[in-house]
Amino acid sequence: MKNTSVWECENCGSQFPKWAGQCLECHKWNSLVETPIYQTATAPVKRSRISNIDTHPVEWRKVTGADTLHRPTSIAELDRVLGGGLVLGGVMLIAGEPGIGKSTLLSQLALTQTEALYVNGEESNAQVANRFKRLSPKSKSRIALFPDTNIDNVVSNITADHQLVIVDSIQVMFSPQLRSAPGSISQIRECALKLIDMAKTTNVPIILVGHFTKSGEVAGPKLLEHMVDSVIVLEGERSGNFRILRAVKNRFGPVDEVGLFAMEEGGMREVSNPAQLLIGEMAGHAQGSVLGCILEGQRPLVLEVQALVVPSKLAVPRRIGHGIKERRLQLLCAVIEKHLGLGIGEKDVFLNVAGGLSSPDPGLDLAVVAAVVSGASQRTKAKRESLIPIFCGEVGLLGEVRMVQGWDRRQKEVKRLGLGQLIGKNEIPSIHGLSKFSPDTKG
Ligand code: TYD
Ligand code: MG
Repeated sequence: MKNTSVWECENCGSQFPKWAGQCLECHKWNSLVETPIYQTATAPVKRSRISNIDTHPVEWRKVTGADTLHRPTSIAELDRVLGGGLVLGGVMLIAGEPGIGKSTLLSQLALTQTEALYVNGEESNAQVANRFKRLSPKSKSRIALFPDTNIDNVVSNITADHQLVIVDSIQVMFSPQLRSAPGSISQIRECALKLIDMAKTTNVPIILVGHFTKSGEVAGPKLLEHMVDSVIVLEGERSGNFRILRAVKNRFGPVDEVGLFAMEEGGMREVSNPAQLLIGEMAGHAQGSVLGCILEGQRPLVLEVQALVVPSKLAVPRRIGHGIKERRLQLLCAVIEKHLGLGIGEKDVFLNVAGGLSSPDPGLDLAVVAAVVSGASQRTKAKRESLIPIFCGEVGLLGEVRMVQGWDRRQKEVKRLGLGQLIGKNEIPSIHGLSKFSPDTKG
């Protein structure tokens, strides 16, 4: 009898006749899942079907539409990330944790279009209509809701008249030709393929919603990321209202632009001055609070970094960071311990970066060190200086401060905010120099 299923890697999509603990292709552990083989003789959709557009080679100058690739939406922060707007026939994946605001942002986007199709596989018509009503009670745009999850029905309802199609989410879609459950790698691949095919045939931009798994990957396959034209990720802390939109792949634009939003009652509000959200009332004045400057893509953000340093009751004191990798915090605490003392070897250190931003920018180091130094100082009363230093630099193991990229851009933002001076390698070549800014600490 013929096998009725194969074992498929959730990470790379490779197939094997037998189960194994590790994928032989991508070497990921525990990634093989049993996937039924096609029930009927129908083969998956082939990209060659797209070829009803151009079946012969074309001289590139004769290609039409090359000048007007992007169609701006009226959401400037989104356009910035997309490289100018939606792309005709482009397929985009927007990924993020559940509840982060994907559906909200896409509903707002749909409301800017005159004719759109919203495939609401996850929510009922009433739920989605209610959201549209709340977001824009007076909107004139014609958005058809389609609560089906059968991909064939979805595809047959897409017409060239649509300005935009949103599929929320790709994980709940299924193709009846496959027996595997919705959300499985073969279903996601098949459904995405059909939608991509449709986008290229009708020239309608299609946006797919994808959820993140716990480990922070787009659920389902890496494969999906390879198939679509662009992947943008919506990040932030669900408890806070700051959201950052980032392109991780973009065939039609830059990948180092970010869009900033605040999640509010009336939906996602564009944030043009992030400092308002990222700098608290007492920033730079209270003990343990300093300002730092990071680069998110090309965009400098001045933000508050807070440290709480308290005597520890544990043999191994805690270093708990929010918005910084724990290892990085441990390392910076060790550097402080070695070069500045301050007794933090017996103290717990809790650190928080404003807005729940988790930035890999090494320029954050100096602000983290300055916050811990300030938090460990004896000063108890908040002092109000007129100018607040803004710390920015990478900190090495010897306590030296290093230059970071994009200094001029950061400096420009600091000047614009008019808060104080940007302090980096040139101002303090080593972290000993921090004593200038925390006079009560002995560095
Ligand atoms: P949602 O867009 O449904 O998240 P996702 O599609 O990424 O899962 O947003 C979920 C949260 O956003 C929900 O807790 C309610 C909140 N929200 C607002 O704060 N304001 C709004 O205008 C809307 C529509 C939602
Ligand atoms: Mg949703």
